[in-house]
Amino acid sequence: MKLLILSCLLAGCLAQEPRPCSSPPLLTGALAMSTQKESLWVNGKYLYDAMGQRIRLMELGTYENKTFSYDVLLLYREATMYEIHRHNRTCNKMPLKGDFQPMGIPKDASLLGQVVLGSSSGPGEGLLVNTWTGDLPEKAGKFMSTVTEFGCIPVSTLFHTDRFGWMVFSYFDNVIGILDPQDLNPPPYCQHAEMKAGDKEPVDFFSLFNNKH
Ligand SMILES: *[C@@H]1O[C@H](CO)[C@@H](O)[C@H](O)[C@H]1NC(C)=O
Ligand SMILES: *[C@@H]1O[C@H](CO)[C@@H](O)[C@H](O)[C@H]1NC(C)=O
Repeated sequence: MKLLILSCLLAGCLAQEPRPCSSPPLLTGALAMSTQKESLWVNGKYLYDAMGQRIRLMELGTYENKTFSYDVLLLYREATMYEIHRHNRTCNKMPLKGDFQPMGIPKDASLLGQVVLGSSSGPGEGLLVNTWTGDLPEKAGKFMSTVTEFGCIPVSTLFHTDRFGWMVFSYFDNVIGILDPQDLNPPPYCQHAEMKAGDKEPVDFFSLFNNKH
């Protein structure tokens, strides 16, 4: 206790305001997602590489009472998305639009508050988090994001767009780093996939979760 008080005095911890922050550039973890308009529920695994601007999502979901699996690789540098069908080793390749959005809190976000999730009564019972709101790029809508005070690890993000209503992402079991680097490259059987364009609009991150079958 003495040590804590001393370090607070030295570092001025009482006066410290939460600040916008960048999440670690490499993350692997799990996520749960649901959407308002499409009654879609998804659980899955994600890999996130901010340096290479690559995201992989491997999901199991329920849409109108039917379960499905969905596996996508988003390569923002190449403006390309792969839908990967592991069971029959085929791929769809599609144009991806929109800029890569790094995880974390953009500098122009507004702080809603700092809270403890769980309890602050005992060690290990609680998690100190900051919640922020702000506008999505290109006035597409609004977001509300919660990240840990220490490490800027994503906890949850709510997006609201007129097109899609609310979309809620919760992140858990996050690990810093990429556990399976090969999962961020198209599998060998995707190399010859042809770009599917023309029949479809280029997909963006949000429409990914809103065009289910
Ligand atoms: C989903 O299942 C519930 C309960 O079985 C049923 O009431 C509902 O109508 C179903 N919804 C759809 C879209 O099939
Ligand atoms: C592979 O599976 C996907 C998804 O189930 C399906 O759309 C596609 O037609 C299949 N491809 C072949 C060649 O069977």
